[in-house]
Amino acid sequence: MSLQAIRYSRGSLAVLDQLRLPHEHHYDAILNSNDAFDSIRSMRVRGAPAIAIVAVLALAVELGQASIGSTAVEAINLIDNRLDYLFESRPTAVDLGNAIALLKKTIRTVDGSAAAVVNAYVEEAEAILHRDLRSNLAIGGHGADWLVSAATHTAASAPISVLTHCNTGSLATSGHGTALGIIRSLHERGALKHAFCTETRPYNQGSRLTAFELVYEKIPSTLITDSMAAALFQLKKDSYNLTAVIVGADRVVRNGDTANKIGTYQLAVLARHHGIKFVVAAPTTSIDLRTPTGTQIKIEERKQEELTQILGPVVQNGIVDTSKTARVATADQRIAVWNPAFDVTPHDLIDVIVTEKGVVEKIDGNFDLSEVIKRQGGPES
Ligand code: MRU
Repeated sequence: MSLQAIRYSRGSLAVLDQLRLPHEHHYDAILNSNDAFDSIRSMRVRGAPAIAIVAVLALAVELGQASIGSTAVEAINLIDNRLDYLFESRPTAVDLGNAIALLKKTIRTVDGSAAAVVNAYVEEAEAILHRDLRSNLAIGGHGADWLVSAATHTAASAPISVLTHCNTGSLATSGHGTALGIIRSLHERGALKHAFCTETRPYNQGSRLTAFELVYEKIPSTLITDSMAAALFQLKKDSYNLTAVIVGADRVVRNGDTANKIGTYQLAVLARHHGIKFVVAAPTTSIDLRTPTGTQIKIEERKQEELTQILGPVVQNGIVDTSKTARVATADQRIAVWNPAFDVTPHDLIDVIVTEKGVVEKIDGNFDLSEVIKRQGGPES
């Protein structure tokens, strides 16, 4: 069975508490938009697609219990109000904003009662969940095809090795994952030699979540700290046939500049220096055509304790006791801290953007993302 961050059936939503992973598997019941907001803000659920899915499904569950009024206008006002609140949970990923825009448009097409508006909302929210899984499977296939063909142009000997950053797998999505989905697809077709994952300080999505997913899926893999990437490329590129860095995205803007987990930009610089491909895997729900370049992206800054303390289960006599957690100081608590959660990789450092509709390559140094949104034939069209 594959890992599931989100468990949903109509009227019921539970999310895996990712702050307790990998030591404990605990699902929190999400009963309404307030629960979803807390879960997203505290990063018990995280990853751009998962944030959007949990937010919109939480409201679907809430609407099943709430007093929605008797007219369509009352129901629309209630839904708008809750969606505007959820929008404030985390600012950088665009998937939630795109999902909210779609849902607001959908409920305005209903000509009927409050119940009909709610029904249209619930059906579209559920469709967002199901489309995400189909998108990820398609991204996995397109990305694996492109990488295998790129590798045969540079080195005759497949399989290839890759490095990934942060967590973009089943835990960050409805399933399969985006960048990690490509790694899964490469592995399934025998084209993957080895996957390296970074620790991803300060929240450790790489060591706590991606390492866990890679081990769970029995994918040959190695964990490194963020600061080891340059040495990895310098010393292991040839012996591992290290072909690409594959990352996800929180927001890809019109010119292809991409906001993703802090540390992504430095990997892109290193990849270019070492002749390694840099691949962004992003569903079209992570594309923001309204923002022209990366300088306009709002970057979330998080609290200083994420750098100066670490939370984990207590170890007694060498045995991990998951029933007790403790915070451990990793720095002088009086030091000033700068903790941006994301950075922006300029499009010139990105080789391709893999979406569910296919691989977008640059033409004369520029990405045309409006073309991919319009493209027919993919599961999103
Ligand atoms: O702060 P997080 O853990 O929500 O950041 C997650 C990332 O940066 C992911 O790479 C991105 O959301 C894509 S997940 C498919």
